[in-house]
Amino acid sequence: MRAYEAALLAGLVASGAATAKPVEYTPPPETASLPAAAGVEAVRANCTECHSADYITTQPRTLKDQRAFWAGEVSKMKKAYGAPIQDQDVPTIVDYLAKMSKW
Ligand code: HEC
Repeated sequence: MRAYEAALLAGLVASGAATAKPVEYTPPPETASLPAAAGVEAVRANCTECHSADYITTQPRTLKDQRAFWAGEVSKMKKAYGAPIQDQDVPTIVDYLAKMSKW
């Protein structure tokens, strides 16, 4: 490494350290709401921690097999994204979500 490169690197490290402070972030207000129906509490408790409820309410309502779609989504949230959903809550959540397309 040449001297000017070392100096440049040192400068970058120093300026990075000087500006590294916690980022304050206030998420925008929630705009979607989950209609009250059997199972809504399980959905609220398990599905709104990481992202807005509009990830749920904006999914297509015209799929032939809503239940298969939502079972897949819940499984993906759990297995791929690490959502801490209890196995016994999965059927309640999938029931709610599968019925949602009819509201
Ligand atoms: C541990 C965090 C976490 C939890 C809890 C969680 N999700 Fe997600 N979800 C994600 C991430 C990460 C994505 C992908 C975000 C992106 O692509 O921008 C996502 C995306 C989605 C999408 C968009 C379609 C897709 O497949 O990417 C839907 C629908 C969804 N989640 C539904 C749910 C439902 C229903 C629940 C409750 C059973 C839930 N999520 C709980 C992390 C979570």
